[in-house]
Amino acid sequence: MRIEELNAANCRTYLLTSAGRAALVDPVRERFSSYLRELAERRVELDYVIETHTHADHLMLNRQLKQELGAPMVMHRESPIPIVDDHVCDGETLALGDETIEVIHSPGHTPDSMCLRIPGAVLTGDTLLIGGSGRTDFPGGDAGAQYDAVTGRLFHLPDETIVWPAHDYKGRASTTIGVEKRTNPRFAGRSRAEYVELMNGLGLPFPDRVQEALQVNQSGFEADEVRFAQVTEVAAVPVVRAGDVARRLRAPDPPLVLDVREPEEFTGELGHVEGALLVPMDALERRLPKLAGFVDRDIVVVCRAGARSASAAALLQRAGFKRVANLDGGMLAWARASLPVQR
Ligand SMILES: [Fe+2]
Repeated sequence: MRIEELNAANCRTYLLTSAGRAALVDPVRERFSSYLRELAERRVELDYVIETHTHADHLMLNRQLKQELGAPMVMHRESPIPIVDDHVCDGETLALGDETIEVIHSPGHTPDSMCLRIPGAVLTGDTLLIGGSGRTDFPGGDAGAQYDAVTGRLFHLPDETIVWPAHDYKGRASTTIGVEKRTNPRFAGRSRAEYVELMNGLGLPFPDRVQEALQVNQSGFEADEVRFAQVTEVAAVPVVRAGDVARRLRAPDPPLVLDVREPEEFTGELGHVEGALLVPMDALERRLPKLAGFVDRDIVVVCRAGARSASAAALLQRAGFKRVANLDGGMLAWARASLPVQR
C-alpha cells in the first residue's frame, strides 16, 4: 500500500493507494479542490473518506463535498457526525485494492478516535504523535483511555511499524513504534496514573475557532447555519443518563424527548425513543414557536452521541426553556443500556 501526505502542513491528510483504489484520510475542507486534482493525476478511484476522529482544529468535509468525492465517509461507531455513511468498530477491516486497512479503536483524544493499521505502518490520528500524544482536554477526552490505547495496543505492534500521525508541528514526517516506545517522553517510564496527571495538568490554550470547527463538524451544516453555543454554556446543560430517562418515561408526567438528529438517523440503525419528537438540529431554531407549549416542561434532548444535543439544549435554554437536559452519550448510550427503541 502506498502512503502519501498531501497537505505539507500541521494538519496531515494521507492518501492511501493500492491497485488503483484509494482512501483519503483526514481531508481538510479548504484543500478539497487539490484532492480532486491529486486523485485524477494518480488515476485512482476513491473508495473511502476516513476520518480518524472528530476534529476540533479544522473544518471537515461537508455533505456536498463528500458527495462530490463520491465515496462513503467512514468513522468509528462513537462518531457524533451525522453525515457518516459507514460506522466501524475495533478490529474491523476495510478492503483497499489488494490490501486491507484495520481499525484500532483508540479513545482518549476523543471518544471516536481510531488508528488505521496498514501493511508495515499505522496511521495514529491524534492518539500517538511524534514524541507526543493528542491532547485529552476536549469534551469527551480521557487521558487514562489514551494511555491504555497507546501502551496496550499500539506499543504491541512490531517495533519497525512506521507511525504516521495526524499532526506534527516540527515538520517531521514519521516515526516508528520502537522509537516511540523507547523515547516518547509522555509514555516512556510513566505509569498510567502519572500519564493522567501529566495530561490533566498541561493547561493548553483552546485552539482558535475550536467551537466553530466542532459545532460545524458535528452538525453537518455550514457555519452560517449553525448558531454557536458557548462551550461554557454547553457544559452548564444538565446531563441525564439513559436508564434514568427510561424510568422517568414510565412515570406520571414524563418528559418530552426531543430528538435533533436527521430523519434518516431517526429511523436508522439506532432507532429512536418511543414518543420522541423529531426536530433536526438545523430546523430547531425555526420551529421554536411550535415548541412553546413545552417551555415549562421537562425536555430531554437526544442525538447520536450527545454532542449535537448539548448544543441544541443550550439553544433551548437561551430561548427560555427552563427544564432542559441532555441525554448523556445519546442513542449510542441508550443502545448500550439495551433500552427499547422504535424504528
Ligand atoms: Fe484532533
